[in-house]
Amino acid sequence: MGRIKIFDTTLRDGEQSPGASLNIREKLIIAKQLARLNVDVIEAGFPIASQGDFDAVKLIAQKVKGPVICALARCMPADIDRAWEAIKPAKKRRIHVFIATSQIHMEKKLRISKEEVIKIAVEGIKRAKKYTRDVEFSPEDASRTDINYMCDVVSAAIKAGATTINIPDTVGYAEPEEFAQRITYLRKKVPESSKITISVHCHNDLGNAVANSLAAVNAGATQIECTINGLGERAGNASLEECVMNLRVRSNYFNGAFTSINIGEIFAASKLVSSLTGISVQRNKAIVGKNAFAHEAGIHQHGVISARETYEIMRASDVGWEGEGIVIGKHSGKHAVENVLKEMGYEFSKVQVSAITSRIKDLADKQKEVERADIIAIANDATQALSGQEQKVKLREFAIMTGSNVTPTATVKLEVDGKEKVGSATGVGPVDAASKAIKQLVDPSLKLTSYNLKAITGGTDALADVAITVENKNCEKFKAGSVNEDIVKASVEALIKGVNYALMHKPKKSIKPEDVGD
Ligand code: KIV
Ligand code: ZN
Repeated sequence: MGRIKIFDTTLRDGEQSPGASLNIREKLIIAKQLARLNVDVIEAGFPIASQGDFDAVKLIAQKVKGPVICALARCMPADIDRAWEAIKPAKKRRIHVFIATSQIHMEKKLRISKEEVIKIAVEGIKRAKKYTRDVEFSPEDASRTDINYMCDVVSAAIKAGATTINIPDTVGYAEPEEFAQRITYLRKKVPESSKITISVHCHNDLGNAVANSLAAVNAGATQIECTINGLGERAGNASLEECVMNLRVRSNYFNGAFTSINIGEIFAASKLVSSLTGISVQRNKAIVGKNAFAHEAGIHQHGVISARETYEIMRASDVGWEGEGIVIGKHSGKHAVENVLKEMGYEFSKVQVSAITSRIKDLADKQKEVERADIIAIANDATQALSGQEQKVKLREFAIMTGSNVTPTATVKLEVDGKEKVGSATGVGPVDAASKAIKQLVDPSLKLTSYNLKAITGGTDALADVAITVENKNCEKFKAGSVNEDIVKASVEALIKGVNYALMHKPKKSIKPEDVGD
């Protein structure tokens, strides 16, 4: 068994996770970290889905060097042409076309016959082939597709020029042994498949995504599609870090299979994705959860101190864990901050690094300890900063009155399109009052649909991290966040950012979700 390619779909399937939408700057930061991780392929998005997706794929194709840059498309001319336009600037590019092949999808969703599906798949692959030799094809819902029909589709796809065939367990229905048998059968029934890459793409609805992907490797799959932290539609996709570390730690079990992943970048990638998407990693998540390498039981601690291997099958440092200690203090300079930011996958201009450094120093003056998590929070805040031009609404002043037996009241002074406006409102709490006062001055149709507050580190002097979602009258959602030692200030700043995102937004031509599939 040889090298297993890692196809990362964090920016496409991962971004389809409810609540995980990323802006273009955030997508580029993640793509650069995926390149440092040395993934083989980055599936950067689904360009026909929206102008935003197209722009992000194009920017990644222009700026990210190393991995193949891939774009998803249905087997439709407009999708394929758009995918090509987006990936064209990349040095290595792939178009990934898909069409559903299970009876239920063909009958109820596509409403076309088996023969028509094959014809559309072949035409799609041939069209993509005119642009690039690297074409991947997925029979969507493959694990629920009649196996002989699946083999006929795959055989036709290979003849049409597909260089990678991806077998998706779209709804996370498969069981490991059964999924492996499907790959073995395919290998036997379609001998041409030995000349191309067989990929697998497993969803986690029954919690089997990683097990199914690994079982498929032992049956001959040579590419795994996965995401950082296992993000993805519904219960997610196979987690990259779990697949990669299984192949590393149990390489013998997988007949010597290996990946080219730079495992020392795993932890940084996990942190980056969780802080930019706002989706935290569960404490006991394998490889990257806070507890993954923590030994609580005395007997375990004793064993680990005597000989690490008694209870540890890999080292925390192998995957880039740095520990939770103090990393930067008030005497640290710009270079130290820049290094920590680089280690965590961020790239900022000198001016941005200076601004971040002074915020860190301010915090170090107030808090005794500045931890890595504080730095990440401040860096994320900086990635969301809007330029002067983008700020239609600027916060000039605010005052909040709250306490017991008083109605929380907020007064805000804003500059809206260059004009100063002052307004007050009451609410059930200070944030509610501020939100009402801002909306009333800017656009009463805006709604605050989610508000999350977390303390970055312990203590009453901790940085507060506020993440909000603002919705406009067309039900379009805009995510924004801010961090500050003052909870109310962080909340008001996040609200102002969210309102600016909503006002900056120009409605774009986009396709309906039901047209898109998984
Ligand atoms: O889950 C799925 O089937 C997909 C395909 C587009 C590969 O995401
Ligand atoms: Zn998927």
